[in-house]
Amino acid sequence: MIETRDLLKRHGGTTVLEQLSLTVPEKALTAIIGPNGAGKSTLLSLVSRLMPMSAGQVLVGGCDVATTPSDALARRMAILRQDNQSALRLTVRDLVGFGRFPHSKGRLHAEDLRHVDEALAYLQLEGLAERFLDELSGGQRQRAYIAMVLCQGTPCILLDEPLNNLDMAHAVNMMGLLRRAVTERGKTVVMVLHDINFASCYADHIIALKNGRLAIAGTPAEVVQDEVLSGLYGIPVSVHEVQGRRLCHYFG
Ligand SMILES: Nc1ncnc2c1ncn2[C@@H]1O[C@H](COP(=O)(O)OP(=O)(O)OP(=O)(O)O)[C@@H](O)[C@H]1O
Ligand SMILES: [Mg+2]
Repeated sequence: MIETRDLLKRHGGTTVLEQLSLTVPEKALTAIIGPNGAGKSTLLSLVSRLMPMSAGQVLVGGCDVATTPSDALARRMAILRQDNQSALRLTVRDLVGFGRFPHSKGRLHAEDLRHVDEALAYLQLEGLAERFLDELSGGQRQRAYIAMVLCQGTPCILLDEPLNNLDMAHAVNMMGLLRRAVTERGKTVVMVLHDINFASCYADHIIALKNGRLAIAGTPAEVVQDEVLSGLYGIPVSVHEVQGRRLCHYFG
């Protein structure tokens, strides 16, 4: 569904992403991993056209992102940025309602309100719906932003570090919920993750970046390997199979 061809991004004279040709499978959960500064957020920003590319091409559902009208793109994909900086004097319900903008153009109809209520319920935010964002904890606020993204009802969802600020229970819950969005609703979910064990247990496909290039892409069984992860992060990593799942151990 998403394909990049020879994608290149320069900031001034510095190349931060190059020769990036990859395919993100449709109706699957793809995790993007790699060290800090590898280019993960840059990749999501280029795919969603939040940032212009220096060269190359991005195709989403066969359409060239560079020439797709903004409203068509907004109905096709939604993105959660790594650093959300919306006005905090906004209620959770209003924030989630903003997610309907590509459909409602500002005036929420009954159908939009139904989507808002559904997203609030999906993220277990009903009790916080009337609270202002600056009255929430970091994890609660993160869930509100994710509700806003899901409320857009797009077939493709890009999430940059969605587990930030979530405790282990909410992180597991969030991964389960995104997994169901793929399996039950046929969504294409692409998420940047630092926790390799979550990528290993929940993703169908993993893309690893290093120094602005593709390091490896494949199934969790192909990517979650001692040598691959040790090479990617530059520290010793050992992978163990526990109850059929590949988990990595990387400290001590
Ligand atoms: N506006 C900018 N000007 C110059 N360099 C930039 C700019 N934005 C990002 N970079 C550089 O581009 C590289 C890739 O950044 P990016 O944010 O994509 O990394 P990342 O993989 O998302 O890292 P992290 O895990 O820390 O979020 C980094 O070296 C970063 O310093
Ligand atoms: Mg990033």
